[in-house]
Amino acid sequence: MKIAIISASVRIDRNSHRVALYLKNYIEENNSVAVDFVDLNEYKFPIFDERLKFMKDPSPAVLQFANTIKSSEGVIIVTPEYNGGYPASLKNVIDLLYPEWKRKPVAVATVSDGQFGGTQVITSLVFTLWKIGAWVVPAMYPVPKVQEAYKENGEPTDKMGTDKRAKTFIDELRWYVEAHRKMAANN
Ligand SMILES: Cc1cc2nc3c(=O)[nH]c(=O)nc-3n(C[C@H](O)[C@H](O)[C@H](O)COP(=O)(O)O)c2cc1C
Repeated sequence: MKIAIISASVRIDRNSHRVALYLKNYIEENNSVAVDFVDLNEYKFPIFDERLKFMKDPSPAVLQFANTIKSSEGVIIVTPEYNGGYPASLKNVIDLLYPEWKRKPVAVATVSDGQFGGTQVITSLVFTLWKIGAWVVPAMYPVPKVQEAYKENGEPTDKMGTDKRAKTFIDELRWYVEAHRKMAANN
């Protein structure tokens, strides 16, 4: 299973990155696969001005990002909630691509420092992903009070409970990845 994780927050002192690190470590330890870790803060993409397919001279970073999404069998997006929506940094890269998202199994983990786990993001993000043709996995991974639940290196304070929730989330994504594989093999 070839999985990419997008850590969407580019905020100084961001906390949702902890969750992205945790999921990376969890998958690598429990599913024995290397994860492609896409840290949008490292890419530092400029504000969207055109889709990749219409760019005359795309940067190596854009090409690398596109290739990571294209070659992955499934994508996990870890997003914070900002004012009830997802951050501009994430819309910036969703719009950049088009065919790369087509029928791609995508699972969404939402993060907040409050008690509702960033779940208000789901409505707008799932709609955008549906609109662009991704195959959104109907499993949630809401993280409330992120700063209490995960250390900076991604280590969860309640390992057993967190691993249990992660298993359910990842297993669901894996089902979609395998279903996608079967369809691709038959077509
Ligand atoms: C501009 C902005 C808006 C925010 N809006 C919300 C919100 O609507 N609901 C919420 O629960 N948390 C909100 N938060 C707090 C984030 O949930 C918190 O920063 C959390 O750590 C995840 O974001 P981060 O990865 O950037 O740290 C907001 C934070 C910022 C910076």
